[in-house]
Amino acid sequence: MTRRGIILAGGKGTRLAPLTLATTKCLLPIYDKPMIYYSISTLMLAGIENILIITTPEDSKAFQNLLGDGSNWGINLSFEIQPKPEGIAQALIIGETFVDGNPSCLILGDNLFYGDGLEEKLSSASQSENNNLFSYKVHDPERFGICEIDMNKKVISLEEKPLKPKSDLAVTGLYFYDQDASEIAKSIQPSDRGELEITDVNIEYMKLNKLFSETLDQDFMWIDAGTNKSFLDASNFVFTTEKEQGIKVACPEEIAFRKGLISKEKLEELSHKISKSDYGKYLINLLK
Ligand code: DAU
Repeated sequence: MTRRGIILAGGKGTRLAPLTLATTKCLLPIYDKPMIYYSISTLMLAGIENILIITTPEDSKAFQNLLGDGSNWGINLSFEIQPKPEGIAQALIIGETFVDGNPSCLILGDNLFYGDGLEEKLSSASQSENNNLFSYKVHDPERFGICEIDMNKKVISLEEKPLKPKSDLAVTGLYFYDQDASEIAKSIQPSDRGELEITDVNIEYMKLNKLFSETLDQDFMWIDAGTNKSFLDASNFVFTTEKEQGIKVACPEEIAFRKGLISKEKLEELSHKISKSDYGKYLINLLK
């Protein structure tokens, strides 16, 4: 059983219009790289090498032009389309054949994670047989899925965008599931806003006592870059972190190289293609 990754990178990005009128959100830049690099990096850090990217019909080609089949980064990328944005949980139905009875990990394309020890947390969630969410303390809980957890990290309550939140723990857009997720997604009904809600899938797991959540403390960074402010916050965070620490946040080439997924020669080839940019120069430096 090898965990498969699904990135949901569709939707209309209406909250970022007019930025998203001609370009889809996940291809917009977060400082020095396209947004989709961040979710791919997160999955790679979790040790996931087979990834399905779900996009709108119009944008599929652009993602494929940018990313190819993943072989440049030592991973396998597949593409599927979501004809209409009918809910995050629909990704688990669209991805059913791709997942092929394996455990899965779904990540929203506009969610960015960063922090010391993140790789260990992600790999341990990926290797665990539990269904694992990641939660994060927020100031505006009305904007998110909100959970309560007990001392054993078991999720005991869950609500999507509650008017009166029971906690300030937001459920981030990163979900590690066992092999039943597609079946559960097929069993839920659309919500009042006509979407298959990921929170409803999680509630089903919670009812079975099979849902856990790891809280990322404030030393970690989590941003849902879906609004103008959070989109800019994300770029500012990446700019400052990269400048102060002299590293790159979410650099798939570097992760692939360090994990032994690509050779030094491959990294050299990739770096020379973009050698005029700071990003390319960073890759060249990794070779030294
Ligand atoms: O970011 C974390 C939050 O993400 C969670 O706390 C919430 O429980 C979860 O419902 C979700 O809330 P959002 O309001 O951020 O979801 P949104 O509709 O913005 O969709 C998130 C991303 O998924 C966005 O980049 C667009 C994409 N998407 C969304 C839907 C509904 C699709 O590609 N297809 C869809 O059908």
